[in-house]
Amino acid sequence: MTTTQETEALRRSALEHVWMHNRDWTQMAEEGGPTIIVEGKGIRVTDSEGKSWIDVNGGYSSVNIGYGRTEIAEAAREQMRKLAYFPQGTTTEPLVRFVEKIGQIAPGSLERTWPVTGGSEANETAIKIARAYHKRRGDPGRYKIISRKGSYHGATGGVMWLGGATGLADYEPAYPGMVYAPQPNPYRCELGGETPSECAVRCAQAIEDLILFHGPSTVAAVIAEPVSSSATAAVPGDEYWPMLRQICDRHGVILIADEVICGFGRTGKMFAMEHWDVVPDIMTIAKGVVSSYLPIAATVATAEVADVFGGKDNIFRQALTFGGHPVAAAAALKNIELMEEEGLVQNSAEVGGYFLEQLHQLKDDHESIGDVRGLGLLLGIDLVANRDTKERYPTELHLGERLSEKLREQGLILRATDRGIGFGPPLCITRSEVDEIVAGVDRALGSVEAQLPSA
Ligand SMILES: Cc1ncc(COP(=O)(O)O)c(C=O)c1O
Repeated sequence: MTTTQETEALRRSALEHVWMHNRDWTQMAEEGGPTIIVEGKGIRVTDSEGKSWIDVNGGYSSVNIGYGRTEIAEAAREQMRKLAYFPQGTTTEPLVRFVEKIGQIAPGSLERTWPVTGGSEANETAIKIARAYHKRRGDPGRYKIISRKGSYHGATGGVMWLGGATGLADYEPAYPGMVYAPQPNPYRCELGGETPSECAVRCAQAIEDLILFHGPSTVAAVIAEPVSSSATAAVPGDEYWPMLRQICDRHGVILIADEVICGFGRTGKMFAMEHWDVVPDIMTIAKGVVSSYLPIAATVATAEVADVFGGKDNIFRQALTFGGHPVAAAAALKNIELMEEEGLVQNSAEVGGYFLEQLHQLKDDHESIGDVRGLGLLLGIDLVANRDTKERYPTELHLGERLSEKLREQGLILRATDRGIGFGPPLCITRSEVDEIVAGVDRALGSVEAQLPSA
């Protein structure tokens, strides 16, 4: 723990030098921030002033195993003392064991792994592989990538254009070949589907219509999260993924599943695609693969895709200095081993089910809750000003900011937006910790609702 003076000095220095993710340093200074986190254990972290918080966000839905696992620190330390780094072309033991493990646990014939350092790089690599795959097979016109409106797949040069987010005007011109499909969110189906099934079928069909409209010979890939964390944990109807698989097969399009958040137990299965028994051609993983202890991520391809790059003059050309770092690989291996030993995927399914039930009960007391949804420990609340119309609160009321502030007062690190609240806690969470969180959300919602005009 640091003294109050040290904390203040650190805070001043942070405000001067740290370029924060998605935050303005002037506003942060006015709010007395940033909070400096110094320790963590399980789902809790402690700040430099000794205050304990529950990290309901689980980092960025990424600290799957929970904080403070010294076994992972030991595995990394041991590897660092033995060999801290050596680049590819050669390889290292932890990297081989890591990719071997991914091949064993990944669905179907997903068995060749290109290691990178984060989810954005994993998706950039997936898109490059998809485009190159078609070229190598003599189908050079396929470059378009279909993603779903409102999805997020990363922040770097190419992938930031997936999902068609607003607010990217600073970085125009946009990446060529981006095509946007509807989001299969059963609560807000933009194609008018009234049940999850109807919404799923219409949204999957819309992707086929887009492929046909653009011409299959121009479309390289479809990329989507199995359960959309971007759409606040929207779970598609059961028809969606099997249909999408068939549509991609019919038109020779590569199917990329972004399991960056969904993977490693987040939805109650090791990989979320297992809920529908669908094997994508390429799967991207990050976050939970190493529970954020060190940066490692990967693009995993089926043998059918990877084999197209076999042969001396045919390699997939890309090198990333830190991709496949042996220390990070050792940490990831230990993380996966502990998750398996401790049944954390099962815990995610069980405690996640309980969490969902408790959030459903909040609906009785809070008119602002329009929908509660999710799978495992990827959960969400959709906030509305009016349940009948599903209209949202006007942005000028700053619902998200007010609610985030009230959640902080409850000791919860949990980000709310004007649209909803997304939950992604560590998978080691217990039922009594869920009760604590739900009680805090109940109080926070109550005090914000009291400030807002009723619809
Ligand atoms: C679904 C999804 N894909 C990709 C990314 C990008 O991962 P990273 O931040 O590790 O680059 C994120 C990050 O939140 C994500 O949620």
